[in-house]
Amino acid sequence: MAATLQPVLPCFLLLLLLTAGAAGAGRHAGGRTLVFILAGQSNMSGRGGATSGTWDGVVPPECAPSPRILRLSPALRWEEAREPLHAGIDVGNVLGVGPGMPFAHAVLGKVVPARAAAVGLVPCAQGGTPLANWTRGTELYDRMVTRARAALGGGGELAAVLWYQGETDAMKKEDAELYQGRMEALVRDVRRELGRPDLLVIQVGIATAQYGGKFLDRVREAQKAVTLSLRNVKYVDAMGLPIASDNTHLTTEAQVQLGNMLAKSYLETL
Ligand SMILES: *[C@@H]1O[C@H](CO)[C@@H](O)[C@H](O)[C@H]1NC(C)=O
Ligand SMILES: *[C@@H]1O[C@H](CO)[C@@H](O)[C@H](O)[C@H]1NC(C)=O
Repeated sequence: MAATLQPVLPCFLLLLLLTAGAAGAGRHAGGRTLVFILAGQSNMSGRGGATSGTWDGVVPPECAPSPRILRLSPALRWEEAREPLHAGIDVGNVLGVGPGMPFAHAVLGKVVPARAAAVGLVPCAQGGTPLANWTRGTELYDRMVTRARAALGGGGELAAVLWYQGETDAMKKEDAELYQGRMEALVRDVRRELGRPDLLVIQVGIATAQYGGKFLDRVREAQKAVTLSLRNVKYVDAMGLPIASDNTHLTTEAQVQLGNMLAKSYLETL
């Protein structure tokens, strides 16, 4: 009896320690964890270095793991973040480098430790999804809200939603025309659901449409319009960032640049 129990006890203790670690993420190393939700489609998830069927595994220093950068795992636990950040979240796709890690490094490089001891990233993006897949009550919406709530349960401070999506909506006239209204509803719904009426949302302005989508300009206009119709919604333009040879995704280098641009946009609000 005692022999069978023995190996169980250390496991149980380890589990306790890990659980305590997750709950304590909000007060990482004596300071606060700034929590960011990352949502949208493939370019938010990240395909840097992964556009030829496998990921090349190249992690530039701007994307390296750090004890001060955590991610909420698919099982809703805090763990040290590493590329590919959306592993287990953006299912069914070959994943690579996205903007999340360079964003976190850039934020930590600029804010004083008293403001943020750590950055907690909550990956939620799913490749190839139109905005209609994110409206209130959809699977992706529910997953995002559930994950956000779990992230905040440990005492973290919700800082912003980073949103990079719209390429798929540039393919159909109807989706492009409905984009502004749907985005406004999404922002209002998420803010209400999380009890944060002023929650900062930073959108990435899409640069080229997926599969030569004809309504790119329409979606970009909609994204800009939302920054005027709602408070605390910002816009960072991806136009001009290098695109990989698949003509469909940002390169690793571009994702590092984008992470820095998103960080700059966030830091301007402080
Ligand atoms: C997106 O919406 C379509 C149509 O409702 C649905 O079939 C599909 O499963 C959704 N995809 C995701 C990832 O939620
Ligand atoms: C990814 O972003 C690039 C640059 O904005 C864009 O050309 C491409 O269409 C996007 N890809 C997808 C699948 O959304």
